[in-house]
Amino acid sequence: MIIAIYPGSFDPITMGHLDIIERGAHIFDEVVVAVLENPHKNPLFSVEERKLLIEQSVASLSNVKVETFMGLLVDYLRVKGARVVIRGLRAVSDFEFELQNATMNRKLWPPTETFFMPTSTNYSYLSSSIVKEIAKYGGDVSGLVPPPVEEALRKKFNRG
Ligand code: PNS
Repeated sequence: MIIAIYPGSFDPITMGHLDIIERGAHIFDEVVVAVLENPHKNPLFSVEERKLLIEQSVASLSNVKVETFMGLLVDYLRVKGARVVIRGLRAVSDFEFELQNATMNRKLWPPTETFFMPTSTNYSYLSSSIVKEIAKYGGDVSGLVPPPVEEALRKKFNRG
């Protein structure tokens, strides 16, 4: 039974994240989406809001769970009894940061193995930050985020 942890900020979850979750759920026995609660960041959505939006977006995937974590990813992995991490790569520019993190995580806890998945090309330009920027100025984010997120963004920016 291989449990894969898919960690991230998910502020908010996008279709790019969902693509990785769906494909990961076909490969691994269980995927746990782990939402980072970072007291040093000021997210648009609280950690509970982010968790709920992911839960609503993955409702049809029976082997996907959503949790929150604080602190080091490797400490969370140890508590979960998991050693597999999934991360999506949109472009070569993502790779440098991701390789650094993956290598450091292995140094901190050697059993950790990070699996990189290339994001589907139709989502390679997508990020949570760009989605927030578009929604903030009233742009159309349909197709970029799951429907519950679209609605939550409208509410957050008081757009009906
Ligand atoms: O969605 P993000 O913001 O790109 O996700 C980054 C995340 C959450 C995977 C990374 O920042 C992380 O694992 N943070 C937890 C703290 C930690 O373990 N840092 C050391 C990594 S070497």
